[in-house]
Amino acid sequence: MITLLHRISAQIAILCIATFFTATIFVELFGTAESIATVKSLILWPGLFILIPAVVLTGGSGFALAKSRSGKLIRQKKTRMPFIAANGILVLIPCAIFLDQWASVGVFDIKFYVVQAVELLAGATNLILMGMNMRDGFRMSGRFGRSGLNNG
Ligand code: HEM
Repeated sequence: MITLLHRISAQIAILCIATFFTATIFVELFGTAESIATVKSLILWPGLFILIPAVVLTGGSGFALAKSRSGKLIRQKKTRMPFIAANGILVLIPCAIFLDQWASVGVFDIKFYVVQAVELLAGATNLILMGMNMRDGFRMSGRFGRSGLNNG
């Protein structure tokens, strides 16, 4: 049950970050000011209201699953989780709020693009960290071969 919760919430979290990331790049390269504002607003709502609970559930269920386990892969997953959370709370959420506010009133000045660059960098970092946690999760559950199971 907890494994299922972990699996589903982890997939939702990764899908959210990947969607926000690609939608942002596409709309800012090819979209109008209006479509940029729409994407920025959708990232805030319902985006963050899906992403935040998904990350909380992934972390919570992950630590619950980890209670009965030890090893290098688990240690590495545990170490990455605070960075994922801090990056989200301290960088991604404030960036999403500011970008939505500025885009909604048509402010696309230098500070918009600086904050946008910071958000993309933090988003890419979290995608990589979550991807590594996913890879190690699959290694532990043996889904894609158990080659990494020697994790003592
Ligand atoms: C955003 C962070 C995380 C992501 C994306 C993630 C992703 C995954 C995925 C995809 C699996 C494989 C599930 C399957 O077999 O279908 C998994 C398994 C697992 N994860 Fe995570 N995980 C994350 C955080 C954590 C944390 C913080 C812990 C605790 C240290 C953890 C502990 C585990 C354990 C113990 C398993 C093996 C479950 C089993 O099959 O018995 N995960 N994880």
